[in-house]
Amino acid sequence: MAHKGRPPLVTVQSHILERQRAHPLATGDFSWLLSGITLATKVIESQVRRAGIVDVYGETGDVNVQGELVQKLDVIANETILRSLGYRGNVGIMASEEDDEPHIIKEAEDGAKYIVLFDPLDGSSNIDVNISVGTIFSILRRKPGIDRNAVNDHILQPGVEQVAAGYVIYSSSTVFAYTTGDGVHMFTLDPLIGAYVLTREDVRMPEKGKTYSVNEAYCRSFPEGTRRYLDWAKTADYKLRYVGSLVADFHRTLLRGGVFLYPPTDDAPEGKLRLLYEANPLSFLAEQAGGAASDGQRRILEKVPKSLHQRTPLIVGSKSEVDRVLSFTS
Ligand code: AHG
Ligand code: MN
Ligand code: MN
Repeated sequence: MAHKGRPPLVTVQSHILERQRAHPLATGDFSWLLSGITLATKVIESQVRRAGIVDVYGETGDVNVQGELVQKLDVIANETILRSLGYRGNVGIMASEEDDEPHIIKEAEDGAKYIVLFDPLDGSSNIDVNISVGTIFSILRRKPGIDRNAVNDHILQPGVEQVAAGYVIYSSSTVFAYTTGDGVHMFTLDPLIGAYVLTREDVRMPEKGKTYSVNEAYCRSFPEGTRRYLDWAKTADYKLRYVGSLVADFHRTLLRGGVFLYPPTDDAPEGKLRLLYEANPLSFLAEQAGGAASDGQRRILEKVPKSLHQRTPLIVGSKSEVDRVLSFTS
């Protein structure tokens, strides 16, 4: 209830508990888990904010399972999340873009039911030039009746099984966005008090948006239908916006409308983006805000994963804009 017109001061944890009151079966378990994520992202934010002062620029010299050069901040972000969530007790399995294999959390309680899949630092090639980067997470529940060590059976669930998803964008301000299937809500980190404060509730993606977001440098190797869509968009006075950080391009699309595409290319015939910890969480958020997400043939959230680091083409944004792309490509 607002006091004398001033909006209430709502943090992520109080928001979760308030919204979960409507779900009698929900327990504080989940908000405890989410507080591990918000803690980790505050630590990551402090490193991003001081890049250059603290030694986080540049590469480690390693190549990760994705075949990509690992940035120092990739490692810092990855370690931070593993350390923050690994001791919450209710997380049984964690899997990161940066690690070949999932982590079974030994310290977890026997009934640890949550699985956290994450991209610790998205857009990491942009760190050294001060362009927005992000963290993306997806939360599943362990499947009942399945051996706790049958990790892949627990992890390789379609996106519709997610119990929550979200991201943090480290930009002009640091914004934490999440959904538990009850709308999309956003919080801005107030550096003066070190807390995320509710700034947007029940976010809706605009029905339309004359902005398309794609790396057109690869257009010669895009599928023919995608190329025809891009030609059409230019004749229909669409704008092109492309940051090269998925979280930044998605956040703009979520708030302003439009469509983001990462189609198949010659170098990445299955697309570049990863299904489990990039496409699935952002598709859950997009649909919760009234948008849509497809791989060009089917709904992203219905894809049954075959492997942890599986890639997928991604078309995500305003429903009418995604449908328009599909009218050319499928
Ligand atoms: P990550 O830094 O986690 O590997 O993700 C990078 C991704 C994504 O952030 C962005 O949309 C895409 O790479 C950009 O790829 P291109 O440089 O090929 O456009
Ligand atoms: Mn990424
Ligand atoms: Mn990454």
